[in-house]
Amino acid sequence: MTAQRVPRHVAIVMDGNGRWATRRFLPRVAGHRQGVESLRRCVRACSDRGIEVLTVFAFSSENWNRPKDEVSGLMDLLLLVLQREVPRLAADGVQLHFVGDRTALSARLVSGLSKAEADTAQNTRLVLNICFNYGGRWDIAQAAAQLARHGHPITEESLGRAMALAHSPDPDLVIRTGGEQRFSNFLLWQSAYSELYFTDCLWPEFDEAALDLAIEAFRGRERRFGKTSEQLVAGHQPQPLQSQVA
Ligand code: FPP
Repeated sequence: MTAQRVPRHVAIVMDGNGRWATRRFLPRVAGHRQGVESLRRCVRACSDRGIEVLTVFAFSSENWNRPKDEVSGLMDLLLLVLQREVPRLAADGVQLHFVGDRTALSARLVSGLSKAEADTAQNTRLVLNICFNYGGRWDIAQAAAQLARHGHPITEESLGRAMALAHSPDPDLVIRTGGEQRFSNFLLWQSAYSELYFTDCLWPEFDEAALDLAIEAFRGRERRFGKTSEQLVAGHQPQPLQSQVA
């Protein structure tokens, strides 16, 4: 069976900002700034195409190891997004979630993230999950720790419910721009049955046409969720193993 519709949930590793900037003899943080423009365009395009959830990887648990000025540049950029982009996103019906470990973030950032989430909580057009200080391993570990703390049994279902992305269904399509073909600790639990799409396009250049190519590739995939092609032809509806939330 071939997926004909748009994916319900698209997740993106937005890679290639640094190279985009370096090729223009600009500082790497200029590439991240251009990355915000590209993100704004992508949010609109997803919304226009009826995609319900967009999840993006903005800062990984490992990105603290980057040069100090790049790390502080990314923190400043997040503040700028909160001040400048959130009102626009709110007006466009976007419901924002920031996913990741907030304990290492400044008090100013933490209160800004909570306010942005509260201000957009009633919006329904598109859910935008921004993964910031996020790692797939961190998420699995924090979910397990939560369950252990409360003495709950650890099962696939209980872990799934304790994950930081439990408010969204698992991603149907995971895109990575920038030419590398790896997960880099993104959505390790949630992407068990996601279709993967890699493109050489650098994130600042990922436009509507590039998104449409990814959706087109997704439509050509057969999603079997562990079943055989013959079972799908016989009319068994493919279902992910983990029951979907929301
Ligand atoms: C990876 O490209 C990108 C990042 C580590 C940051 C992604 C951030 C944005 C797209 C801006 C959005 C930001 C916020 C705060 C919402 P890279 O720097 O590894 O690129 P390279 O592989 O070419 O060096």
